Amino acid sequence: MRQPSVPTTPTDNPVMNISPSPVIRPPATIAILGGGQLGSMLAHAARHMGYRTLCISSNTDDPAARWADHHLAADPGDANVISRIAADVQAITVETESIEPAALAAAEAIGTRVAPSSHVQTIVRDRRLEKSFLASNHLSVGPFRIVESAAQMQHTAQELFGNGAKEILAKTARGGYDGKGQRWIRTPGQADAAWQALGQVPLVVETRVDFVGEISVIVARSPDGSMSTLPVFANEHRHGILFQTRMPAALSPATTHAAVNLARRTAQHLNVVGLLAVEMFVLPDGRVLVNEMAARPHNSGHVTLRAATRSQFEMHIAAICGLPLPEVEILRPAVMTNLLGDLWPVESPPAATSDGGHRHPDWATVLADGRATLHLYGKTPRQGRKMGHLIHTGHTAEEALASATAAINQLQTHHASEPA
Ligand SMILES: Nc1ncnc2c1ncn2[C@@H]1O[C@H](COP(=O)(O)OP(=O)(O)O)[C@@H](O)[C@H]1O
Ligand SMILES: [Mg+2]
Repeated sequence: MRQPSVPTTPTDNPVMNISPSPVIRPPATIAILGGGQLGSMLAHAARHMGYRTLCISSNTDDPAARWADHHLAADPGDANVISRIAADVQAITVETESIEPAALAAAEAIGTRVAPSSHVQTIVRDRRLEKSFLASNHLSVGPFRIVESAAQMQHTAQELFGNGAKEILAKTARGGYDGKGQRWIRTPGQADAAWQALGQVPLVVETRVDFVGEISVIVARSPDGSMSTLPVFANEHRHGILFQTRMPAALSPATTHAAVNLARRTAQHLNVVGLLAVEMFVLPDGRVLVNEMAARPHNSGHVTLRAATRSQFEMHIAAICGLPLPEVEILRPAVMTNLLGDLWPVESPPAATSDGGHRHPDWATVLADGRATLHLYGKTPRQGRKMGHLIHTGHTAEEALASATAAINQLQTHHASEPA
């Protein structure tokens, strides 16, 4: 099952000068900065590919800390910490935008391979730089403004509503994820309240895009500029958080081609090494706009863990190490559904057998469907927190979706029937 794809060639980077970088071979050690589930799945992939991993994160019980060969309990964004370990590892990568670029620069200064680079990390962690980068390189992006004061907020709201915007969305330039740090503004009169509510910090303000769908395109790119694009995923968000990803995405060949092209051009202009995940909106006329990007594995890519010839995590490791990047093919249609902390029943008072006051959802019923695989990250449940995901495969996309829908309905019903 192939999707239309742009050919992968080792020398298709017209934008940057490429300098040869040696292949990093197993059993080299890769440092993963950050302790979340993306890091744990990266550590898992790296280990079975023969690499050793060192996770640097604050807590020894972080998901990635438990999967890595070694763990250093320290601030992964501290340049002093990173300079101390940089000579002992062959590559350094990140699993979150929260890592300070200065920490990556400290490792670059001593010649360790760092992917993403401090330059890329600087851009992807600040929506102002991200959107400006896209716009200045003629990479399609929706209307946006940068806002850094209450007066600018007011002026921008008046301007965008005056231009015909029906709603505008203010997003903090830094630190936002899963819809956090965002506020919809429906009239110019709501602008000041939004500025206050978001903490009077720099913002990017966007016009609402009336999309017909959301997709993501993940590109793996090597130090030599060669690239391989993963299948395009269709994403459904609820309350700003990814709810479900479907692979393959039901898109016209023209939209698929446009999306893949846009993601690859973005990766080239950024000169990224490793994965670049590009979130996009699909417009009613089939055109695509970039929403945001991440230089790391992406939640939507989890679906590849069970239903593609390579997982996104294997592709990230292969790319940063300079291994050949194979084409990633879909093995079977699949749906990934995120499991949020809301599904964990809260006990009151907490029972001695419970986990921090939480019982667990009824996995047995969900797993009775043999097409389901359950991935749990081992985190403490909290409202809206990503706790794990389910992947359902099927002979057809409809079958996979029907199984996923049945599973999530079962979990929600079970939750609703629990005593509060
Ligand atoms: N300009 C926009 N117009 C319409 N919906 C948007 C817009 N920006 C974001 N959204 C919705 O909010 C979700 C989360 O926004 P995003 O910018 O991706 O932030 P996050 O970093 O939290 O994922 C998007 O996936 C989309 O569903
Ligand atoms: Mg997003």
